Amino acid sequence: MTILVTGGAGYIGSHTCVELLAAGYDIVVVDNLRNSDMAAVEGVKKISGKNFPFYQVDMRDADAMDDIFAKHNIGCIIHFAGHKAVGESVAIPAEYYDNNINATLGLCKAMKKHGVKNIVFSSSATVYRSDNTVPWVEEAVLGAANPYGWTKFMCEQILRDCVAAEGWSAVLLRYFNPVGAHPSGIIGENPQGIPNNLMPFIAQTAKGIREKLQIFGNDYDTPDGTGVRDYIHVVDLAIGHVKSIDYCLKHSGCEAFNLGSGQGISVLELVKTFEAENNVPVPYEFAPRRAGDLGAYYADPSKAKRLLGFATQKSLADMCKDTWRYQEGNNG
Ligand code: NAD
Ligand code: WQD
Repeated sequence: MTILVTGGAGYIGSHTCVELLAAGYDIVVVDNLRNSDMAAVEGVKKISGKNFPFYQVDMRDADAMDDIFAKHNIGCIIHFAGHKAVGESVAIPAEYYDNNINATLGLCKAMKKHGVKNIVFSSSATVYRSDNTVPWVEEAVLGAANPYGWTKFMCEQILRDCVAAEGWSAVLLRYFNPVGAHPSGIIGENPQGIPNNLMPFIAQTAKGIREKLQIFGNDYDTPDGTGVRDYIHVVDLAIGHVKSIDYCLKHSGCEAFNLGSGQGISVLELVKTFEAENNVPVPYEFAPRRAGDLGAYYADPSKAKRLLGFATQKSLADMCKDTWRYQEGNNG
């Protein structure tokens, strides 16, 4: 069985390629390298000891995608490719809608043309409206607070409609906060410029690349006043994709799943764990709340456990240690 992995040079895609190869799948990777580089592809080959075809192609190039579908007997797709920065999506919304929606629409047309019926899609907890009570369940009210979130909301709807029309099978995976790196230290998260997300900012601060972490808000209605999120180790998340493929191939219809640990962790808890596990200081100061942030949200992961047989295995300590190992080895 060959899996087409779009965005497979990216952070979550590269870790998923490793787990797919370990599970015995063949893979074909497509990425335009807009937010990644060949080091991740080479890293996947090094970890797995396996080779696979890689195409540097923009998914909006219909002819190039058509050639890839014609050349390979694709049984299932995992569609990671897309822009993902919330702030950037507010600044350049048309680019976000163009890239994320048109990549998905082109994929649906190619699936129909080449008779591919199975797809696993990278969605996000950002498709839940912020006023749902925690923990968030898959039936919670959907909505979005920024253009990035709306692209995920719309892609979910496009897939729901295509599944209904074509009799396909789609699994929509709503990730919470992916962090960590492969335990080998060979692949991990390598953001361009100043990181937006907490864990890479902590790692760069520990390394001395950033002077100080700003903790956005210490007056939330949470145990220590700082923001609470559901962090999931990227290797657990990758394994969740392998289990989703099994499910996708055995079912038809469109099903959404939360992928999270179900545990809320505060910013301060994460900082303290990182310092203790890695024996390195992370200088920080409290700063005003970040616009658009929520105080606390985390997943109800029970549907994924029940239907996919998926539950996270890795601890917060693992997330911190693996992030640091990758940071130490790869970013000067
Ligand atoms: P990433 O940026 O590391 O990976 C995405 C990859 O897609 C990149 O390698 C990029 O070059 C590629 N890409 C983008 N547009 C493309 C196009 N038109 N054609 C070909 N390749 C293209 O991001 P990630 O963190 O690995 O996220 C993967 C997916 O998961 C994204 O869809 C993202 O929205 C979603 N997601 C991420 C998070 C997170 O916090 N990292 C959370 C929820 C959902
Ligand atoms: C986590 C916590 C911050 C940075 C975003 C997207 C979401 C999803 C994952 C894709 C919050 C605090 C952060 C810093 C801080 N992506 N923080 N100082 O905002 O939960 O989710 O990434 O789908 O859509 O919105 O993640 O890592 O930015 O923040 O105090 O320098 O860390 O306030 O409480 P977030 P994050």
